[in-house]
Amino acid sequence: MSELKRQAAETAVGYVKDGMVVGLGTGSTAYFAVEAIGRLVDQGYSLRGVPTSKATEDQARKCGIPLLELDQVDRIDVTIDGADEVDGRMDLIKGLGGALLREKMVAYISNQKVIVVDESKLVSKLGQKAPLPVEVVPFGHKRTGKHLESLGCRAELRGGHTPFVTDNGNLIFHCRFECIDDPYELELQLKQIPGVVETGLFLRLATKVVVAGERGIEVRER
Ligand code: A5P
Repeated sequence: MSELKRQAAETAVGYVKDGMVVGLGTGSTAYFAVEAIGRLVDQGYSLRGVPTSKATEDQARKCGIPLLELDQVDRIDVTIDGADEVDGRMDLIKGLGGALLREKMVAYISNQKVIVVDESKLVSKLGQKAPLPVEVVPFGHKRTGKHLESLGCRAELRGGHTPFVTDNGNLIFHCRFECIDDPYELELQLKQIPGVVETGLFLRLATKVVVAGERGIEVRER
C-alpha cells in the first residue's frame, strides 16, 4: 500500500515546476510528496512550501524546503495532498490526519489542487468507508457533538477521554453517516452549527486526482 502511495505522490510532484510556491499536504501519502519536493530543492529548484500542519512543517524543514506562512502568499501554484475518500465527482473526505482546517485554507488559494491516493480511497458515495472529521472549538463541544448527531450521524470525539487537539487548539468529531447522499447540503448544514470550525468535506476543490493502483496510475481531471 505504501508503495502505491509513493507512486501517486511522485507522479503528482511531476506537476511542480521551478519557481513555484507549493502547498504541502499532510498524511502518509503527502509525506512522499514532501520528500520528492525536497529532492527537487536539492537538485537546485527554487521552490517555497506552505505546510498544512506542524508535522509537515517539521518534515519540510528536514528536507530543506524553504517555507512560507499562508499570510505571506497571495496564491499558491500547486498543492499536493492526500484524501480519505474520493467519489466519482472528485469530491473528497479529508482530515483523518487531523489537519483539515489548514488543508482547506491552503487548498482554497491554490491554483492547482492535486490529490494523491491509492485506489483503496475510491468510493461511489462519500461516507461509505471513512467517518467525516469535523473540527470544533473546545467550548461546549459536547453540545456541538449533539448538534452534529441531530444531522443523522454518530459523532465520536477523536481520542475519547484524552481528546486529540488540532494544531489550532481545537477538537475533532468523527461523524459516521451510513453514507452521505448530498454532501453539498450536508456541508451547508454543518457550517450553520455554532462551534463548528471546519468540515472534512472538500467539495469541488480538487483539480486533479492521481490514483495509484495495482494496474498503474490514473490521473482524473476536473
Ligand atoms: C490529513 O488531515 C488528511 O486530510 C490526509 O490528507 C488524509 O487523511 C489522507 O491521509 P493518508 O495519506 O495518510 O491516508
